[in-house]
Amino acid sequence: MKTNIIYFSRTGKTKHVAQKLAHSIDSEIFELKDNKNWSGFFGYMKGGFYASKDKGVEVSFDQQALDCEQLIIMSPLWAGGPSPSIRTFIRTTKHPNITLVLTNDGSDVHKAFERSKTLLPEVKRYYGITKKLKNENQVLEQIKTDLNK
Ligand SMILES: Cc1cc2nc3c(=O)[nH]c(=O)nc-3n(C[C@H](O)[C@H](O)[C@H](O)COP(=O)(O)O)c2cc1C
Repeated sequence: MKTNIIYFSRTGKTKHVAQKLAHSIDSEIFELKDNKNWSGFFGYMKGGFYASKDKGVEVSFDQQALDCEQLIIMSPLWAGGPSPSIRTFIRTTKHPNITLVLTNDGSDVHKAFERSKTLLPEVKRYYGITKKLKNENQVLEQIKTDLNK
């Protein structure tokens, strides 16, 4: 099954993990960009505001990213859900087979998964890579195993 990865990353963590997964499963990788400046303290605050209000943004990406049977979407967790760009991407592209991988610092990703089931019913499978739990390698291995099932 052809699998692509698309990611959004503000500070590089999700990009790093996405590159590692792409290397491990030998998939193509694409970056999702948006029209906002999220840098610095004000960018952080704005990000929290956009995420908590579920506000959309304008996104840009290579259309080839959608040319696959399975799409792995990777996003940082922002205020309990994926970044605004990833939410917009999921809602507008409506890919039929989405796996969502969230990276975050320490909060319980399962709460975000539950919330996302209502927000983003398009997503089929969820994974969380949490810095505090040091579970990056374990979760990447799990994704790889699940893809081969
Ligand atoms: C606006 C904003 C909100 C965030 N909210 C959370 C949160 O609710 N829980 C959490 O554990 N981490 C939260 N984080 C931290 C990021 O999810 C985490 O550092 C992520 O791995 C960063 O990925 P990136 O470097 O690819 O941007 C937040 C970060 C930002 C910018």
